[in-house]
Amino acid sequence: MRLVFLGPPGSGKGTQAKKLAEKLGIPHISLGDILRDEVHQETGIGKRIKEIMNAGRLVPDEITIALTQHRIEQADCQLGFILDGFPRSWAQATALDAMVKQLKIELNAVVYFHITEDQVVERLSGRRSCKNCGAVYHVTFNPPKVAGKCDRCGENLFQRADDEEKAIRTRFEVYEMQTKPLIEHYRKMGKLVELDAGKTITEVYEKLIKLVENG
Ligand code: AP5
Repeated sequence: MRLVFLGPPGSGKGTQAKKLAEKLGIPHISLGDILRDEVHQETGIGKRIKEIMNAGRLVPDEITIALTQHRIEQADCQLGFILDGFPRSWAQATALDAMVKQLKIELNAVVYFHITEDQVVERLSGRRSCKNCGAVYHVTFNPPKVAGKCDRCGENLFQRADDEEKAIRTRFEVYEMQTKPLIEHYRKMGKLVELDAGKTITEVYEKLIKLVENG
């Protein structure tokens, strides 16, 4: 199963991708996580993109395309993957079409997560993440058992630098301008599946499973 998750920041793509990837036994490829790792490791790429990410703007296409191509060519992606947060621009969508062709594979579906801007702000301003294992929580909607501590590994939770209101609004604007137009591209290709992402985590997951099972 090869899926792309498309939708605004905070629409729950990462939360749902983690659950579904585990159920299907395929990798969850989050471009945001890959890029944050570059920043954390202070690689050449990481140093170039830190400010861009903190401000909520898009990292240059040549970087995200190369990282995605490298990742989906790995052996663990042969049986499928969930691509979360790529593509986000026309150049990236065109590059993905070319990668798929070159690897002689097909995308099963592009799942579009619908949500309002107010819900985005509410979700992202309450998000807390674990630096150690990558688990994601929400102070109200998905709180950890002990406030500020990760349930899985006990590490302290932190708030992402781009989850401050100004950066959230920039990310939403960038999404509207650059990523939203891709919806029509995938609709025309007959790949688009729409998901109401404004419900609870469990309700969204149940709908997602049905969409995936119905092919
Ligand atoms: P990335 O990390 O991908 O950020 P994003 O797309 O803005 O998405 P988020 O991770 O913020 O949200 P999500 O939809 O995964 O929601 P989540 O499940 O966490 O990218 C970060 C940055 O990297 C970009 O701004 C850009 O700079 C760069 N970048 C990444 N990809 C790029 C690309 N292709 N090209 C160029 N640059 C790129 O949920 C959010 C919160 O809500 C959590 O607290 C969660 O617990 C909660 N929640 C989830 N679902 C629900 C629900 N149903 N009900 C209530 N709460 C919920």
